[in-house]
Amino acid sequence: MTNIQFDFGMVGLGVMGRNLLLNMADHGFSVIGFDKDIQKGAALESSATPNTVVKGVSTLAEMVQQLKRPRKLMMLVPAGKPVDDVITDLLPLLEDGDIVIDGGNSHYTDTLRRLNGLKGNGIHFMGVGISGGEQGARTGPSIMPGGDPDAYREVKSILEAVAAKVGGSPCVAHLGKGAAGHYVKMVHNGIEYAIMQLISESYDLMRRGLGLDNDDLHKIYRQWNEGELQSFLIEITADIFLQKDDKSENRLVDMILDKAGSKGTGKWTSQDAMDLPISVPVIDMAVALRDLSTYKDERIQAAALYRTGHAHIDVPQEVFIQQLQDALFFATIICYAQGLAMLQKASTELAMEIPLPEVVRVWRGGCIIRSSLLETFLKAYQANPSLQNLLLDKDIAQLLLAKRQHMRNIIMHAAQTGYAIVGLMASLGYFDAYRSEHLPTNLIQAQRDFFGAHTYQRIDMPGTFHTDWNHRG
Ligand code: 6PG
Repeated sequence: MTNIQFDFGMVGLGVMGRNLLLNMADHGFSVIGFDKDIQKGAALESSATPNTVVKGVSTLAEMVQQLKRPRKLMMLVPAGKPVDDVITDLLPLLEDGDIVIDGGNSHYTDTLRRLNGLKGNGIHFMGVGISGGEQGARTGPSIMPGGDPDAYREVKSILEAVAAKVGGSPCVAHLGKGAAGHYVKMVHNGIEYAIMQLISESYDLMRRGLGLDNDDLHKIYRQWNEGELQSFLIEITADIFLQKDDKSENRLVDMILDKAGSKGTGKWTSQDAMDLPISVPVIDMAVALRDLSTYKDERIQAAALYRTGHAHIDVPQEVFIQQLQDALFFATIICYAQGLAMLQKASTELAMEIPLPEVVRVWRGGCIIRSSLLETFLKAYQANPSLQNLLLDKDIAQLLLAKRQHMRNIIMHAAQTGYAIVGLMASLGYFDAYRSEHLPTNLIQAQRDFFGAHTYQRIDMPGTFHTDWNHRG
């Protein structure tokens, strides 16, 4: 293999980097990877499929020297300083026209900074979101590239080869200018947080509220996965309930501490939504609940103080489960609607030119939020690529209208029995507010003008007005 010039290089041979490289090799590309940990280079070679061209090296220079020009290489290292460190090490080794891809979950503003910084050096820098976890990287992830379209053309055939396929079409597309790839991935993760929160609420209502056991739950989620809720997250949820614990007699899910971790992408979505501004309250609530879950000691004190028990939901099981399925479906649509509305807004506000139909098409396979609902959304965006919000699409409206009563019933029962279903509640609240021609915000404007002379607009004439509220007429 000594004189080979390789098609693609990878910096960082953790499980994601290694699997993606092996996936490329399986599709006929010659690949070379570098990791500071020499063992990982060896592990890469030993896990390669026979007759594929895969090499692990122990210095960055060795890797760069053996790449075809223009060089195409990806970094899959932790977001933040490690990305900047790799760029610093790479710079003296690269030449004009080389393409450097950041395939991690970097914040899009970091990507913009790096992109602009590297332009002066003649290097094409691309932020590319990759979703699907370890398994996805190996067998077909969803890939969200953004940035320089010329650089994308250079790597397109490799990315298309390794991406998941839906109906023969690869789950990858150029998703916009600048840092659009990482922006789309950030919002993907925000939606991921929101749907996970909703599923956890449905689990709580059935586990504690109805008193179902793990086998029952497995069957219900499996059944849901065969219907309109079909999705990767529902599928893995069904499987989770069967997993036995190897350290006790119980199922593993019952032995896991109820404190959620997070690496920040959900929070970034909420933060950026507020900056745009656009409302994504289900995502906000999902982030807030992960945070609240970490306050375990305080929750224990509060549970004793408020005598929080396991209140039984007194509704016939079958009726409740059917209504819950509809409520989850309703709320899941709202999560996607919020995330996609955010992308539509960012597309213009941040000048990213994000093609919404392509985003939805790419999310249909390989990624964590893939679901059969995306086919319906694709139709909506194909009919109107500049659709501001999925809730304005007639077919989506029919879906929501058909489920809304069950959504209300579930929220009523859960509120009466004291279950924390903040994601479901935020979904319904958003739906009710978004579809309201009249909101009580006229009163907020009056209050603002009363105490702060912040002015208001009128419904009957143009202009900006202020009233001296203390002198009532
Ligand atoms: C994906 C995932 C992936 C990762 C999340 C987890 O699309 O493959 O989103 O990127 O699992 O970053 O995020 P938290 O640790 O914040 O839950």
